[in-house]
Amino acid sequence: MRMLRAGNASEPGGEMVGRVADVGPEVPAAWLGKRVGGVVLEGVYADYVLAAPALVTELPADVGAAAGLAVVRGGLVAMGAVRSGGDIAGKSLLITAAASGTGHLAVQIARALGAKRIVGAVGAIDKAGFVRECGADAVVAYDDPWDERFDVIVDGVGGSLVPRAVRALAPRGRLVAYSAGGGSVEVGSLLADLKTVTGFSIGLLARTQPELIESCRSQLWKLLADGAIRPQYTEYAVHRLDEAIASIQERRNTGRVALRMDTSAL
Ligand SMILES: NC(=O)c1ccc[n+]([C@@H]2O[C@H](COP(=O)([O-])OP(=O)(O)OC[C@H]3O[C@@H](n4cnc5c(N)ncnc54)[C@H](OP(=O)(O)O)[C@@H]3O)[C@@H](O)[C@H]2O)c1
Repeated sequence: MRMLRAGNASEPGGEMVGRVADVGPEVPAAWLGKRVGGVVLEGVYADYVLAAPALVTELPADVGAAAGLAVVRGGLVAMGAVRSGGDIAGKSLLITAAASGTGHLAVQIARALGAKRIVGAVGAIDKAGFVRECGADAVVAYDDPWDERFDVIVDGVGGSLVPRAVRALAPRGRLVAYSAGGGSVEVGSLLADLKTVTGFSIGLLARTQPELIESCRSQLWKLLADGAIRPQYTEYAVHRLDEAIASIQERRNTGRVALRMDTSAL
């Protein structure tokens, strides 16, 4: 979606699952043949991709390829963004793009980390059932009035939703922005109620604080192993690429959209 939004549909996608075919000089040969998944920032629709070791992890044997794909980037972003909201135990959260590959895991992670109330926001209200099944207490559409106030808002949409999200923050509330959608904050709107707006990006963290990525990742895999999160996805064979992309462009997808390059056993 990142690339589609930027107007370049030639290389959408940002994560992969596969087996290690070769390693660079700094990577132990023991990685060869391992089943891994991770974030790949370009050239992902290919039989072979080049991945940075810090953003790749071995997949647990009992996690299927599509479920692993849903977790390796979306789960990591969701975990990092929710944790950027501080200690959310007992807090109220609004999660936008709540049905997306990242958002649906943010809802589940927030539930697992003890949020008191979770409201999911979506473009089309027909996604409400899906978001509730992920653990949200309520679902609102972007077009609805947002009368409720939240301690933490995790935003995966940006743009014109940002000022609305700032208004929907409770006193001392925090907005975590992680989308590529931009948006403006009028600083004066933060003052009276001591509101905070912060950004989250796994790219910078991987370069500067890899230990924090590792901490998010191990917490994520533990939640998955415990059954506290259940990644949702729709899997398409590669010849259905156009359908897969259309589902995202038309904002119809619920959970991660996964593309299977071939029928090899992953
Ligand atoms: N900060 C980071 O480190 C990082 C890393 C990876 C991705 N991201 C960002 O995370 C966001 C979500 O990515 P994802 O892979 O989880 O999404 P996705 O699974 O492809 O889901 C797409 C959904 O996002 C919502 N959306 C909101 N604004 C949209 C727009 N302008 N165009 C199309 N869909 C839009 C739509 O649902 P609704 O209509 O219900 O909103 C759509 O169904 C993206 O903005 C991406 O750039 C951030």
